[in-house]
Amino acid sequence: MTDQALDRSVVVGVIGAGAMGAGIAQVAAQAGHRVLMVDAQPGAVERAIAQAASALQALADKGKVPAEHAVAIPARLRAATLPELAECGLVIEAIVEDMEVKRGLFRDLEGIVGAHCILATNTSSLSVTAMAAGLKRPERVVGMHFFNPPTRMRLVEVISGVETAPEVAQRVFRTSEAWGKHAAYAKSTPGFIVNRIARPFYGEAWRAYTEGAADPATIDAIVRDCGGFPMGPFELMDLIGHDVNFAVTKSVFDATFGERRYAPSLAQQELVRAGRLGRKTGRGIYDYRAGAAKPAPAVEPGAEPVRRVIAVGSLGIATPIITRLERAGIDVVRVQGPREAQLPSSGWLEIGPAHVMMTDGRPATRRAMEDAHEHLVLFDLALDYATTPRLGLARADQCGLGAFRTVCATLGLAGFECSPLDDVAGLVVLRLNAMLVNEAADAVAHGICSADAIDVAMRYGVNYPRGPMEWSEQVGLQVFARALANLREHYGEERYRTSALITRKGYTGAGFHG
Ligand code: NAI
Repeated sequence: MTDQALDRSVVVGVIGAGAMGAGIAQVAAQAGHRVLMVDAQPGAVERAIAQAASALQALADKGKVPAEHAVAIPARLRAATLPELAECGLVIEAIVEDMEVKRGLFRDLEGIVGAHCILATNTSSLSVTAMAAGLKRPERVVGMHFFNPPTRMRLVEVISGVETAPEVAQRVFRTSEAWGKHAAYAKSTPGFIVNRIARPFYGEAWRAYTEGAADPATIDAIVRDCGGFPMGPFELMDLIGHDVNFAVTKSVFDATFGERRYAPSLAQQELVRAGRLGRKTGRGIYDYRAGAAKPAPAVEPGAEPVRRVIAVGSLGIATPIITRLERAGIDVVRVQGPREAQLPSSGWLEIGPAHVMMTDGRPATRRAMEDAHEHLVLFDLALDYATTPRLGLARADQCGLGAFRTVCATLGLAGFECSPLDDVAGLVVLRLNAMLVNEAADAVAHGICSADAIDVAMRYGVNYPRGPMEWSEQVGLQVFARALANLREHYGEERYRTSALITRKGYTGAGFHG
């Protein structure tokens, strides 16, 4: 067997014509393959082919695909029986998520397909190693994990079990690319790449919310506007469905023998128990019933702004805040300040009586005491301080509301909508991203996948604005390393321990790709 992409003349089999199988079959047909489709449910394949035909016709009508595609592509899809898959060079199963049923199917296929046929599974949570065990040729079994909907989502995770032959994984990787997808290799492990690395995006949002950081609408707005994510965690969970999201978290938690980083949220369990599953039931975190208003994020009411601000030391990646203040006509006086203010992102702005600086993972109240800042206000991490329309801010208990409002009013002049957060450790964007980076570093440290594969997977599997590795290089790994150390100390929980790879790279100053 070669490690090249499958030739277009190779016939592809797709078993299961549900949400995933139908889309996968269409993707293969679009790439030029003849596709044989099998489903246990009578009429399911015919429905899937009709749906693909009408979706392609709609695209052709809008001029997005050539008119002949609307005819030629569906013509490559055909309903078949299992024995007819004998001519296939690749069979992808997308049937019910049940280990025994999938194993039984692969055992049956072994008696049908030729020696060189690759057997791929689209499972999102089952072990590829376990699925292949007991087969005559486990080396040809591989995970080919598409994302929903497969026609639109551009990632395929290529999963190797213990026995998967490297050339089989390579062939599927190259074939996925030939089908117009970005592919990422990973070892068979709970959650593979995306469903594992993404856990803190939900888990830390639940923690921040249940600790009273802010209401969901404010957290969502901060994650979207400051973090650059296409959706906030709560609106995304409402879209995915809390039953599904909770089940994935629980499955990763159980499959890792109770790793605390993946501990499911009791608050989410309550939502599931109440039947508030999200958009599909009309209510989840938010209310989607007719007439219900979408809650707006909290914004701190303004006070009298100041016209002169002192910038002490280095604001690091937050330096564009200074430029924005100046553009708004505010006089910014730069001073060097003490030695500790020279470290990247350790400087501060003096706005009225308040000292305003980026969070380092410690709550403001504690940091105010430790670092002797009398009226301390912390702002959250942002993907790009030059353009963010919003900032999340928390004040120390020692800082009065009046001083806080002066800060918000002054930043407001520079175009920042200021959303108040309670004084939780690491605020929202820093905390979520520090834990995403931590998770990513652990996956690399444990040999599950490469740093590049993680960035590709998170960008194309869940549309993150950039991969966690890229972000850690942009922000500076030491910012995340410091935040993690402070979170660990604050909570005293194993959940926040720093990945050994971050500790190591942090010393050398090298990025993950170095
Ligand atoms: P689905 O329920 O929409 O479709 C499953 C289809 O398989 C149904 O048409 C059913 O009749 C058929 N089927 C079930 N058992 C069969 C058997 N023994 N032989 C032949 N056909 C059989 O399910 P969906 O969502 O398409 O999921 C399929 C697989 O893809 C599962 O392994 C799932 O974990 C995985 N997956 C699902 C994603 C999603 O977002 N829905 C994302 C990525 C992977």
